[in-house]
Amino acid sequence: MPHDWQSWPSMVPFIEGGTLTGDDGGVEVPHSTSTPNNLTVLAHWHEIIRPQRTLETGLAFGASATLFCELHQRAGISGSEHHAVDPFQQKLWKNCALRHLEAHGLSSCLTHHDGLSAQVLPRLWQQGLGFDMIYLDGSHLFEDVFLDFSFAHHLLEVGGLLAFDDSSHPHVRKVLRFIRRNFHTAYQEHSPYQVTRPRHARLTHLAARLLGRQQLTLFRKTAHIQRTWMTPLRDF
Ligand SMILES: C[S@@+](CC[C@H](N)C(=O)[O-])C[C@H]1O[C@@H](n2cnc3c(N)ncnc32)[C@H](O)[C@@H]1O
Repeated sequence: MPHDWQSWPSMVPFIEGGTLTGDDGGVEVPHSTSTPNNLTVLAHWHEIIRPQRTLETGLAFGASATLFCELHQRAGISGSEHHAVDPFQQKLWKNCALRHLEAHGLSSCLTHHDGLSAQVLPRLWQQGLGFDMIYLDGSHLFEDVFLDFSFAHHLLEVGGLLAFDDSSHPHVRKVLRFIRRNFHTAYQEHSPYQVTRPRHARLTHLAARLLGRQQLTLFRKTAHIQRTWMTPLRDF
């Protein structure tokens, strides 16, 4: 990693431990956040892609959203923006993520969509928005992840990166198998371990896949593909 984002003040609560403040003034210890490894890999790809626009499902306490907004701001790409979809930011998470981003001067970079991803993503598609990185970390139910992928596929630019958290979760794995079998001409899979364990990347990737332990899965979109209503299904 050429930069030291782990020591950025806005990231400290998620990396080194710390607290956030909710709407009620209560102190909250962040949980359910993306792992430091995930964040490291996303930061690495951000540097490669230099995205104009990024999207995530699942804001929660805001670890990945904070990272994306900081990376955008520090990269100085004019007009760059991060979109985060989460219907429970206020109800479950007491707006901690939104308050945290505000406190660190990052709010202007973020658009929060207060709705289910199945409702919001098709709207973004209809608006004609395109994204260069999409991180799926919302609901982990098969039907939701499948819908997230279907819409993300339309929203992602060629050359863009699609990342799935919790890849070993049975619901998520099923969707990943579908993509590997049926969308292999549109995506190239990249090992996250090339970033976190470069010397043993291939072996670690293989072992993690076999043992069902892979946390993060990365697909880079290589082409727009034409799938018609008659395209045969490859079993997955
Ligand atoms: C694992 S957390 C996200 C963690 C976050 N990416 C981070 O790094 O801090 C999952 C989030 O998905 C949200 N969620 C659940 N169902 C969702 C849905 N259908 N659409 C969008 N978000 C959803 C939950 O409210 C929760 O905040």
